[in-house]
Amino acid sequence: MRNYRIAAMGGDGIGPEVIAAGVEALRVCVERDGGFTLDFTDFDWGSDYYRKHGVMMPADGADQLRKFDAILFGAVGAPDIPDHVTLWGLRLAICQPLDQYANVRPTRVLPGITSPLRNVTGPELDWVIVRENSEGEYSGVGGRAHRGLPIEVAQDVSIMTRAGVQRIMRYAFRLAQGRPRKLLTVVTKSNAQRHAMVMWDEIAAEVAAEFPDVTWDKMLVDAMTMRMVIKPGTIDTIVASNLHADILSDLAAALAGSLGIAPTANINPERDAPSMFEPIHGSAFDITGKGIANPIATFWTAAMMLEHLGEKPAAERLMRAVERVTADPALHTPDLGGKATTRQVTDAVCAALRAAND
Ligand code: IPM
Ligand code: MG
Repeated sequence: MRNYRIAAMGGDGIGPEVIAAGVEALRVCVERDGGFTLDFTDFDWGSDYYRKHGVMMPADGADQLRKFDAILFGAVGAPDIPDHVTLWGLRLAICQPLDQYANVRPTRVLPGITSPLRNVTGPELDWVIVRENSEGEYSGVGGRAHRGLPIEVAQDVSIMTRAGVQRIMRYAFRLAQGRPRKLLTVVTKSNAQRHAMVMWDEIAAEVAAEFPDVTWDKMLVDAMTMRMVIKPGTIDTIVASNLHADILSDLAAALAGSLGIAPTANINPERDAPSMFEPIHGSAFDITGKGIANPIATFWTAAMMLEHLGEKPAAERLMRAVERVTADPALHTPDLGGKATTRQVTDAVCAALRAAND
């Protein structure tokens, strides 16, 4: 029997609600599969922990997570604590030391979900965004001096390294190669940013030579937003810098119908530390505690986690259950225009998993 240790961290806002739903569905996946077990350990890190201890997680937090096979993460962010404190204190404080440098964001229009694009009914929009997750605009390098004075100065320095760009390009080309269309778009802004982004383009071309069977093109980020809206079917896999992909992935989620269903995986491809799986939606304080958070993004990211662990049949079974549930508008939560609750959607996915005859 294969056993995996999972760190479950709800974090802030609706995070604990959706992670509880995810753990519940994963337990049914285990039951249904019979070939593996999941051993969950809960972590209470996040903004409440910060209010008690003055830090979002213990100083050795990232190290405590190393012994797990994967991390299931809810959300981080609270209205009364600055976002850069919560984010850098927890999420980035985990992603960076555990070197989860590839952030993977699949986007598809699931059955029953309506895209705001009038010509998209489903298959025309099936993308994976690969976001560089360790450097670039989120390097955390910079500083601020002479606070409050007229001569105040502030700097955020975007760092790109040859090693960092090379590894994300290789990851993206490999991922594109594994998809039926073998098609990759490299997003850039080398017309305006003439140092790092020019190196980014050069390394993309070098790495492309290692993947002769992948068709690739290069697109300026501003033009990419237009292409995503106007010609979604011409896109398959996308690789972009940390900030560019952050922005494009919100657009992608909206075009696929809702941010409430978008998943993400922070992957350490070398597997020398655990990877972290989370819904993209964030803490959503306006609906916290109301029982109406959409758990679909968490189920989808849980399926990505199963796949990463090597449990592909279980991952596929979970996604089929998710699709059976999204197909029924009576099971849509308010973010999708419906009236269903987190409980109802979770029960429906668990029931679909139990009923699956494959
Ligand atoms: C995301 C989010 C985060 C990011 C926020 C919460 C800082 O927008 O995961 O896309 O920019 O990385
Ligand atoms: Mg974002």
